[in-house]
Amino acid sequence: MTAASVSLPATVGVIGGGRMGAGIAQVFAQGGSAVTVIERDADAAASARARLADGVAKAAARDAAIDAEVVLARLVVSTLYASLTDCALVVEAVPELTDLKVDALTRAESIIAPSAWLVTNTSSLSVEGLADRLQRPERFCGLHFFNPVPPSALVELVLTSRSSPELTDAARGWVAALGKTPIVVHDAPGFASSRLGLVIALEAMRMLEEGVASAEDIDAAMVLGYRHATGPLRTTDLVGLDVRLGIAEYLHAALGERFAPPQILRDKVAAGELGRKSGRGFFDYADGA
Ligand SMILES: NC(=O)c1ccc[n+]([C@@H]2O[C@H](COP(=O)([O-])OP(=O)(O)OC[C@H]3O[C@@H](n4cnc5c(N)ncnc54)[C@H](O)[C@@H]3O)[C@@H](O)[C@H]2O)c1
Repeated sequence: MTAASVSLPATVGVIGGGRMGAGIAQVFAQGGSAVTVIERDADAAASARARLADGVAKAAARDAAIDAEVVLARLVVSTLYASLTDCALVVEAVPELTDLKVDALTRAESIIAPSAWLVTNTSSLSVEGLADRLQRPERFCGLHFFNPVPPSALVELVLTSRSSPELTDAARGWVAALGKTPIVVHDAPGFASSRLGLVIALEAMRMLEEGVASAEDIDAAMVLGYRHATGPLRTTDLVGLDVRLGIAEYLHAALGERFAPPQILRDKVAAGELGRKSGRGFFDYADGA
């Protein structure tokens, strides 16, 4: 890796300041980049600002080397795509809907310099399919960050058949400069992590449905038996049951029956039990636990 590739771009854009976008913006700003976050309207921009302030405050409370004021001064939230003009790298983190992503990516590509890089944080859509819609697919790849972004150690670098070798080097360098480890995955449904994570989670749900064991005990099997940091059902609560259902439906269509969403997952999503964010999923978070 060249020396130039281990530093972060000076100017970074992040489209979508939700759970993932705010985390991604925060870690780049902590690394020294000036970051512009694009949101869809003024209300969403206000929420994104609050999310960023909260994330930076928590990071500064955990790590004395982080100066919250300095990091926040590097973060700007805007509703105007034109604010991305000077960004050397733009990370797309809008909701997991192809049309929304294509719209965000093509708008960004039409504004940024031809030398700038564009990446998507999709967790399941075809990166190759998104590349098909772009003018400069060689400057585009997937960077699949994990939730929550700041403490997560892994980023999947998802390459298409057209991602350039320079992009691969640069992206490895950004991930390393963020203090995380990249794994390189060639675009395939579910990449490496979603495919493996989901197959275990869907089996855990089927076991719960069949009454094989309680949610607590199924999770304990993986935490204590296989040294996973969190069990598959609690992880699903963290990711969001609706998010996992969407990915399962997509992988079911792409890879077959082993990814068929269990009825318990459909029922919980229909009942609004979406996990931590709604206060209830496979576990109860009503007390804020
Ligand atoms: N939640 C996870 O665990 C997780 C993990 C890895 C990757 N991802 C992926 O990250 C992406 C974002 O997921 P999230 O969980 O942060 O969703 P989220 O709903 O929390 O955030 C999405 C944000 O995008 C904004 N937005 C919507 N349309 C927009 C537009 N046209 N322009 C600008 N902003 C717009 C929304 O206002 C919202 O703040 C998805 O592709 C998802 O699959 C999610």
